[in-house]
Formats: sequence, C-alpha cells, structure tokens
Amino acid sequence: VLLDRHPVSWSFLLAARPAGHEITTLEGLGDGQSLHPIQQAFVAERALQCAYCTPGFVLAVRALLDENPRPSDDEVREYLAGNLCRCAGYADILRAVRAAQEKLRAAAT
Ligand code: FES
Repeated sequence: VLLDRHPVSWSFLLAARPAGHEITTLEGLGDGQSLHPIQQAFVAERALQCAYCTPGFVLAVRALLDENPRPSDDEVREYLAGNLCRCAGYADILRAVRAAQEKLRAAAT
C-alpha cells in the first residue's frame, strides 16, 4: 500500500496502525469506473502473470512516477528492487512503466 504516497508493506500498517495518514490501496488507484493508467499499462504490456506481485509493483510504480516522472531504466530497477516477481516478468514490468509514463503524460496534456 501507499502511506502518504510512499510504498510500505501492508503488514507494517497492521502492526503500526497509523492514524491521520493517507493510505492508498490498489483498489483506490482507479476512479471506480476504470483502471488507473498504470493498471491499464500493466494489463496492456502483460506485466502480470499470476498477479501475486502486481499490487506491490503497481503501487510502487505510482510512487516512483510521482517522485520522478522520467526515471531511467536503472532508477526504475533500483526503485522496484524491493518487489519480487517469482514469474520473472521484469522486462514486461519495465515496459509497463514506460507505457504508464506515456499514458500519464498524455492525460496531463
Ligand atoms: Fe507472478 Fe509476479 S506475476 S509473481
């Protein structure tokens, strides 16, 4: 989940029970009618296989692009290093990050 727009483990929140903070879940990214552009990019780029890791990656990408809208490939890899995909879809995930950047850039203009 995102705690005040920064990725943290859900188990951390269960233990800490922080009050007065903004918590964003995967379900909270979209507008209730359609998927968020990052979610759309993950689907379009087939960056989810079993989807076990997907919520963490999508929320981490959201935090990354909020902090740095134009990260290099190395910056993306470094930022997402705490997220593990046992299906090894890392190349697809990197393509999804690039597609999400385009979608977000297009939506902003
Ligand atoms: Fe299966 Fe990442 S898609 S663990």
